[in-house]
Amino acid sequence: MQVNLRESWWIRDVEIPTRAVLAPMAGVSVQAFRRQGRRYGAGLVCSEMVSCAGIEHRNEKTLGYLRVASDEHPLAIQIFGSEPRAMAEAARMVEAAGADLVDMNFGCPVRKITKTGAGAHLLEHPDLACRITEAVAAAVGVPVSVKMRRGVDDGSRACLELAPRLVAAGAATLTLHPRSARQMYTGYADHTLTAELVELVDVPVIASGDVTSRARAESVLAATGAAAVMVGRGAQGNPWAIREIVYGDGAQPSREEVAAELIHFVRETVRELGERRASGFLKKFYAWYLGHGRFPKPFKNELVQLSSTEEVVTRLLAAAPGAADLLEALESDVPDDELLLEGMPISAYGGG
Ligand SMILES: Cc1cc2nc3c(=O)[nH]c(=O)nc-3n(C[C@H](O)[C@H](O)[C@H](O)COP(=O)(O)O)c2cc1C
Repeated sequence: MQVNLRESWWIRDVEIPTRAVLAPMAGVSVQAFRRQGRRYGAGLVCSEMVSCAGIEHRNEKTLGYLRVASDEHPLAIQIFGSEPRAMAEAARMVEAAGADLVDMNFGCPVRKITKTGAGAHLLEHPDLACRITEAVAAAVGVPVSVKMRRGVDDGSRACLELAPRLVAAGAATLTLHPRSARQMYTGYADHTLTAELVELVDVPVIASGDVTSRARAESVLAATGAAAVMVGRGAQGNPWAIREIVYGDGAQPSREEVAAELIHFVRETVRELGERRASGFLKKFYAWYLGHGRFPKPFKNELVQLSSTEEVVTRLLAAAPGAADLLEALESDVPDDELLLEGMPISAYGGG
């Protein structure tokens, strides 16, 4: 069945305007990334994983993740942890912060997380996973969701055993990234498992993994019956991929558009993180934006070497002077409500 990617759908009483969801990515999904994703057509955006222990201890840095801007909605904030009571408390704060959904990470494969009993570890501890889901669903009024991998070991089907129990425990939607935790990001996402999951549960399923184009999005939706696709790495430095997926507009951006979007991203991120953290954080984005044959490699390398983001902006404007007008338009569209953002942290954690 052909799915219209521009069609809205619902997670309980939350309307999601399109069928593309921007993936939660640690060290990537800052507010500037999420707002940009919404502007380019993502129907739902998600924070990176936030430690429920950090929330519980009112860690100032962790609380920085709970800052929500008015143009991000609908927005999910993702939490991770292994203790039902602490997860429920974190969920209450996430709801109070203004998130439209509380997402739980049951997929992170990184040892630093799994050894604490959180992330993908929960796929092998279904009773605990269900108790956490029940506690979180009971704690908040907004819908709760779970993002999973297929299981810990290659070939595992643990997600299929767990899924109906999570729904019974209160999960209003499930996202599946059908790689094993062991696989990390190698091999491919086996969406035949996503199709099985869709058959098994009566809540909307989001398909995550290797969706980088409209053709791929359409084929995953058609083959699985999922309600939406999630886009992660394909959207790094490339919001135009979301536009292509959602609207079928495959036009490559001009150098001016790329430079304007990157400068806007740089400035918003500096506001979010402060210059010191932002300058390190942004380096990977320079390569992501300027790749795809958009700018010559030596230019990319030069930007990474610069010590301040102001110098980066100056170099970009010199390389693409026409970007200034586009930038002005972008900046005039930003609502004024994010002066709250100061010292927002970056997680050292690594995903799901
Ligand atoms: C750098 C990076 C960080 C990630 N961080 C998270 C995370 O915080 N929470 C989560 O559930 N998944 C995380 N993921 C997994 C993605 O959300 C997504 O499921 C995965 O990348 C597969 O989708 P893709 O092929 O579109 O990238 C991360 C992935 C990457 C590449």
